[in-house]
Parts: sequence; structure tokens; C-alpha cells
Amino acid sequence: MAVSAERRADFTSWCRDELFTPEIRQATGLINRYCDLQLAGVYRDLGLGAILREPKKAADIAAELGFVDTASITLRDALRRLGERTGAVKVEGEPLDETFTHVEDPSDPADEIADVRAQVAALGADFTAATDFIDFGRESFVKSLKDDPDYMDKLLSGRMKEFAELWHRATNADPLQDLHGAMGARVLETILDGGTVLEIGGGTGNGARHLFGRLAEHGNLDKVGKYIFTDISMRFVLASKHEFGKKYPSVDWGWKFFDLNKGFAEQKIEPASVDVIYAVNAAHVAKDIVGFLKGCHEALRPGGHVVFAERIRMSQYEMAPREFTLNLSIYHRSAPQKADYRPMHCYLHPDNWHAVMDKAGFSSCDVLPDVDGLKTEFPDQYAAVVVAQK
Ligand SMILES: C[S@@+](CC[C@H](N)C(=O)[O-])C[C@H]1O[C@@H](n2cnc3c(N)ncnc32)[C@H](O)[C@@H]1O
Repeated sequence: MAVSAERRADFTSWCRDELFTPEIRQATGLINRYCDLQLAGVYRDLGLGAILREPKKAADIAAELGFVDTASITLRDALRRLGERTGAVKVEGEPLDETFTHVEDPSDPADEIADVRAQVAALGADFTAATDFIDFGRESFVKSLKDDPDYMDKLLSGRMKEFAELWHRATNADPLQDLHGAMGARVLETILDGGTVLEIGGGTGNGARHLFGRLAEHGNLDKVGKYIFTDISMRFVLASKHEFGKKYPSVDWGWKFFDLNKGFAEQKIEPASVDVIYAVNAAHVAKDIVGFLKGCHEALRPGGHVVFAERIRMSQYEMAPREFTLNLSIYHRSAPQKADYRPMHCYLHPDNWHAVMDKAGFSSCDVLPDVDGLKTEFPDQYAAVVVAQK
């Protein structure tokens, strides 16, 4: 086991009793509803009722709408979710190759959208980062899938300054996202032992902010020998350098461009040179997940760990609410492998994580907390930390 049974139980209790507050649980349910309502809105905006009078596959719908080819992934997941959760559309056939047929037009969701948004806001202003992010997806839907296919990728990788605030809120201020960094930091603190940490996809800094906040609070900054913060966006790397370099001057920092879809050695991360590879909501970006993990394995010293705080798919074919917007990005929707161990793009199911870690040669893998054990009391639970040891 990468994590002892005792630590696993302790982590599960902490999630259940402290991290997953009543507000978090309530907001998660509301955001799920919000996503369904906005999908109903898109269904109406695009006239899908008329298009689906005859049964059709997602690729045909994308072509009929003049969308780019991979928009079929976006439409497929949206229609499956809408069909399963609202009945507006009939979903038939094998998962990921479904045929969709119109059942009934969803009623105009505008009033309920406003109502749910107000309920979310009542839980705390930061929770509206999640509704704002979905709203942005609704506004950008056709633009991203037809007119400017690179649009959402520019936003997600920090290439559009005017949306920096939206993305920062969506990844850091939103309490539903922020908890990923808190979960990762709690696990990491127990693993660190003065070695070198490589953070991948560090982005706007959720992972480092939680980790160093926690280590500093506990007088444990010396648990990090060297911290190499990386991302594919140099804008993000430099902003984090500015923030964390100043705040924690005693830490031995490295700041680097790193593309997780390229080899480690060619990016000057030498074999057996790192003790922990850390990522918060970034590892799933890997197009070839097993290849990426093999690279991690090679870069780690014997006994080293990968620690990935991740959004997981609780059921294999679910579409997460924030994928309303993320599925408009090419990099998010085109990280599939069409393999039995990773049938959906981007986010993985816990079983998929176990399978890919095994294939990459890791000796053990754990997914924390006990997601099945928490299912009855928090059915919409969506966050986990994947830990594997070399
Ligand atoms: C969902 S964000 C998470 C960011 C950060 N860890 C956080 O939680 O605030 C994903 C990050 O992965 C980065 N990214 C996208 N493609 C990447 C790639 N090929 N290699 C490395 N990082 C990438 C993005 O720039 C972005 O910062």
C-alpha cells in the first residue's frame, strides 16, 4: 500500500467531518442542478429538439451544426447527462457511441437558473465562481466549438489576460475546487521527508498555496528540500514565483516550463532525481496517461511517490458540472485514450487510476479518501488524492 490503512482511515474521517462541510455538500448538489439547467438552455439555443427528431449520433449532430469534429465529444457527454438526469432526450446504445433522440423540449430554464444561482450565492460569494464558470461556458459555447476552437484553451492556459481573474476564481476561490489543494497538502505533509518535489501543472498555485501554508503553520517548511514549480504557461509560473518566492524565501525554489505531454529527460528532469511528483487537477491533462506515468516513474528515486489531487469520475461515463465549460477546450476533451483503462477523456475513475499506475510500473497505488464508504452520506463526492509509490 502506498498509504497505511490508519492514514487512509484518518484522511477519510477528516474529509467527512471537517473538509466536506454542509455548505460544500449543498453547493455540490446545487452546481449539479445548475449544470443540468444550463445544458437544457444549450439544448434550446441550438435547436436540438428539431435536429434530434430522427435518432442521431454526436458526430452527426456536430457536423450538422458546423462544429469542429471533436465537438462530438462535448455534445455526446452533454446529451448523455441531459438524457440521464432530465429525460429530455432518449439515450440508446453502447456508452460513448450512443444514439440520441428528442423526447420533449426542456422548459425555459432561465427562472430556475436565477434561483439556483441565488441559492449558491447565499452559501458564500466564492461559491459563485462555479456558476460564473458555467455561465461563461454557456456564453462561449458556439464560439468555442465553431468560430474560434482555440478560444477556451487560451483561457485555461493563461494566454488571455482579460480572463485571468475568471480562471483564478474558478481554480482557487471556488471552495469546491480549493479543497483539492487542501486534500493534496494534507497527504503530502505525511510523505515529505526533506527531498525534491516536482509540481506539474502548478498553474495559478492552488497546490503550492495550500502546501506551504500548511507546512509553515506546522513549522514543517524543512520537509521540502527543493520545490520545482512548473506549468505549460510561463505567465502562471512567473506569477507564482512572484507570490511564493517572496512569501517563503527560505525554500529552495525552481521555476520551470514543463509540458507533461513531453518526455522528462528532454525537459532536463533527470532519471531518479525527484522524491515526489505532485499535481493538483493537472495529471489528467496527459494525452498518453501511461506514458506520462512511466516518465514520472523514471524521474523518481526508488521509493518515491506521485501524489495527484484529482477530480475523479465517480461513475465511469459521468460528465462533471465544470466540464460544461472545460469540454469546450481542445486539450480537455482530447485527452482520451479510448482504452479499457481510460475510456473517457481527461478525468479518470478510481479503477482507471489503479490500472494506469500498475501499467506504468508503480508498486502500489491508493485513492483517498474511501470514496465508496462516503457514497451514502455524500453521493455527489468528486474529489480524491491518488498516491502511488515507485
Ligand atoms: C485545472 S488547472 C490546475 C492548476 C493548479 N494546479 C490549480 O489547481 O490551481 C490545469 C493546469 O495544467 C496546465 N497544463 C495544461 N496543459 C499542460 C501540459 N501539457 N503540461 C503541463 N501543464 C499543463 C494549465 O496551464 C493549468 O495551469
